[in-house]
Amino acid sequence: MISPAPSRPLRLGVNIDHVATIRNARGGDHPDPVRAAQIVAAVGGDGITAHLREDRRHIRDADLQRIQEATDLPLNLEMAATEEMLAIALKHRPHAACIVPEKREERTTEGGLDAAGLHNTLTPIVWKLKDNDIRVSLFIEADERQLDAALRLGVPVVEFHTGEYAHAHLDGDRERMSAELKRIADMSALAVKNGIEPHAGHGLTYENVQPIAAIPQLAELNIGHYLVGEAIFTGLEHAVRHMRELMDEAR
Ligand code: PXP
Repeated sequence: MISPAPSRPLRLGVNIDHVATIRNARGGDHPDPVRAAQIVAAVGGDGITAHLREDRRHIRDADLQRIQEATDLPLNLEMAATEEMLAIALKHRPHAACIVPEKREERTTEGGLDAAGLHNTLTPIVWKLKDNDIRVSLFIEADERQLDAALRLGVPVVEFHTGEYAHAHLDGDRERMSAELKRIADMSALAVKNGIEPHAGHGLTYENVQPIAAIPQLAELNIGHYLVGEAIFTGLEHAVRHMRELMDEAR
């Protein structure tokens, strides 16, 4: 009997940005994203993800150091490809940096980075991060052109954007969902074949996470908004634990 290819362990990175969104709504220091990071560490999350946006609408500069001091979990800094963010990454030296597209007027990251079109802008940023032992990831759409661009840039990791998959799930559009899922699965396999570690994230929930978590090549999911939302009703410990259970069950 031929046994199926073994799945790799799937890490859960928890994006704590929206704890800071709630804090900033009142301008004080509660709820503190650092406390959220400590809870994630205590309940078995594998990493903390934080996006320092140009407008500092959620995570702020001072949060980064506080998060790094408060837990031993690896910090994955999501950042735009700008000189300002590069300088901040080099100062804080997070475990990983995920380069994302950023538009001031968007509510959240709306799509993948055009790694192919931005090759010349990204090259020096990727190399400086790599020179400083920061694991570079590019947040891209699951398509061959972008994966090929990531390969040419020499990044060790890509994170596939699952936003379209999540939208299709919300719309109840099964056909679009399975097309998106296939795209992500195919590109995850191609990434591994080319020596790149594939991650995925955006818009993942209890209801839609399992088909993504079942893609055997994926090494990490980054999930934020839904977990922070669920935490309001059931607590962050429970939300992270339950997401972890669903991911494990899918493997
Ligand atoms: N991964 C990346 C690169 C992101 O930009 C985001 C959103 O900040 C996430 C994952 C998490 O998405 P969500 O908050 O929808 O779970």
